[in-house]
Amino acid sequence: MTKSGSTKRRRAPRTQAATTLAFEIRESRLAGKGAFAIRPIKKGERLIEYVGERIPHPVADERYDDDSMDEHHTFLFTVSSRTVIDATHGGNESRFINHSCDPNCETEIERGRVFIFALRDIAVGEELAYDYAYERSGDETEKEERLYRCLCGTAKCRGSIMEPVAEYEKRMRERQREKQRAQAARRRTRATA
Ligand SMILES: C[S@@+](CC[C@H](N)C(=O)[O-])C[C@H]1O[C@@H](n2cnc3c(N)ncnc32)[C@H](O)[C@@H]1O
Ligand SMILES: [Zn+2]
Repeated sequence: MTKSGSTKRRRAPRTQAATTLAFEIRESRLAGKGAFAIRPIKKGERLIEYVGERIPHPVADERYDDDSMDEHHTFLFTVSSRTVIDATHGGNESRFINHSCDPNCETEIERGRVFIFALRDIAVGEELAYDYAYERSGDETEKEERLYRCLCGTAKCRGSIMEPVAEYEKRMRERQREKQRAQAARRRTRATA
């Protein structure tokens, strides 16, 4: 399962990333290592690009089989229905940014490239995090729910680093409506032929 980077809110003017990183990598109480602000960060700042090897989904699935993992740990980010970035290969510090259900960062995809922005002002020492919102398939097993358990500990924690169930259901309803619209259009085309 890969991070989907679906957030595209533009609440503040974006600024370019500074040449030196605004954060450092060290142990996190959330999971393994994390990224921590080493200077005050302004809302809207572009912090870093999520880079790595660009691979198709089937290759990512072959490399990382959720069923055989006791603990989930990957550096994957879904860019589109075709492409995933695997930051295990050629990744930078961005791969250590953890998930939070009440994040201070967000991701944005610009012409196939993934960037991480500050959602609000961030103080020195705060851990950076964005909402991974791993796409659900709708048939998650108990084991998967356990694998993707969230430890962010915020008041808004939904207990999972997967997308909220309501978002999955909304996506499915939209997909269904899209299908129905396409079927109706095909019927209209046949009727006028
Ligand atoms: C891209 S890594 C993040 C960096 C990771 N902490 C490390 O040291 O390599 C993603 C993994 O970190 C863990 N993780 C990140 N945020 C988490 C959270 N809020 N709760 C539980 N696990 C988390 C999960 O195992 C996830 O698969
Ligand atoms: Zn959480």
